[in-house]
Amino acid sequence: MSWLQRVIPFVGMLLLLQRTPALTSQQFHLINGSLTWSEAQSFCRLKYTDLATVNNVSDRNELANTLGSHVTNSWIGLRKGNTPRWMWSDGRGTAQYTRWYPYEPSGDGPCVEVFVGGTWNDVVCGHGKVFACYETQPDGTDSYVFYSPRLTWEDSQEQCRAKHTDLAYISSDLNNSAVANQANAWKNNMWIGLFSDAWMWSDGGETSFRYWLRGSSSPGDCASVAVTQQGRWVAADCNKKSAFVCHGGLKAKKMFMRMTVRSDVDLTDSTISDALLEKLEMVLSQQSITDINVSWRRDSNGDAFRRQLKIA
Ligand SMILES: *[C@@H]1O[C@H](CO)[C@@H](O)[C@H](O)[C@H]1NC(C)=O
Ligand SMILES: *[C@@H]1O[C@H](CO)[C@@H](O)[C@H](O)[C@H]1NC(C)=O
Ligand SMILES: *[C@@H]1O[C@H](CO)[C@@H](O)[C@H](O)[C@H]1NC(C)=O
Ligand SMILES: *[C@@H]1O[C@H](CO)[C@@H](O)[C@H](O)[C@H]1NC(C)=O
Repeated sequence: MSWLQRVIPFVGMLLLLQRTPALTSQQFHLINGSLTWSEAQSFCRLKYTDLATVNNVSDRNELANTLGSHVTNSWIGLRKGNTPRWMWSDGRGTAQYTRWYPYEPSGDGPCVEVFVGGTWNDVVCGHGKVFACYETQPDGTDSYVFYSPRLTWEDSQEQCRAKHTDLAYISSDLNNSAVANQANAWKNNMWIGLFSDAWMWSDGGETSFRYWLRGSSSPGDCASVAVTQQGRWVAADCNKKSAFVCHGGLKAKKMFMRMTVRSDVDLTDSTISDALLEKLEMVLSQQSITDINVSWRRDSNGDAFRRQLKIA
């Protein structure tokens, strides 16, 4: 009698992967714990997608809803990097079209003004200047709105966001002439929505929406949402322990199940172990379990099962 004709115990490991539903929106998750920024980042990457990224005003509002009545500051995924970039205030990211004056930007400051002649200059943000906002119309087209009272860049941004869409975004010569014509008419250099900073999103996103607490210059290289300050952001020491916000869906759950099968066929034969897997999937689907993938965990030889050694 060959050994295959006897009933032999085999051990194998079944891997169950449970899928989570696909996600369209950001899905923020407040974790009311106490971790440093880096620890929070690791946690979010393990369980969700990453620390929260806030791309625009609607994300900011969704984040505010997630935080609700939570009162302590919470980390988001923004951390200071080493490379400043020129970016647009409305969040769309780094500037493609630019019209710098010769030898500009010269490092004078992180905000940008349009000269009456239509070229651009970098400058400190605290001076009062006339400014250009833009507004997206219901039909999807954009138009500029100009303001003559002189405000700082931050205050201009605040007013543009409150009354329109944001500070002006410029992507063509046509756009630039429209802004320059108004600057020229008022004989004043004019703020536009271009600014520079070195902050980076943990998930690698290049969006440039910022919602800092105005007039605060707290030191620190990590960004935290201050719920008591209308959800505005403050820079804080990355080693401080705090609650935090992750985004993304829960990662697929992995489960291993060890199983012993008594069989009179050779389960180390992969055609047989594959057939057994198919049978298992069928049983699961008959019970309407379809969000689970099953597979064998295979050893370095590609075997799913081992003969169980009898220890006499
Ligand atoms: C299960 O397998 C299918 C098809 O191979 C795949 O599309 C799906 O993403 C897998 N699900 C998980 C949770 O791995
Ligand atoms: C804001 O960003 C989210 C992704 O973070 C995107 O799904 C949404 O469409 C954006 N909303 C607007 C108004 O741009
Ligand atoms: C977060 O935890 C603190 C105690 O650690 C608790 O007082 C507070 O109510 C919690 N907040 C939320 C929103 O669960
Ligand atoms: C900017 O220019 C583009 C194309 O040149 C145009 O479609 C858009 O309406 C202009 N934006 C504004 C605010 O005028």
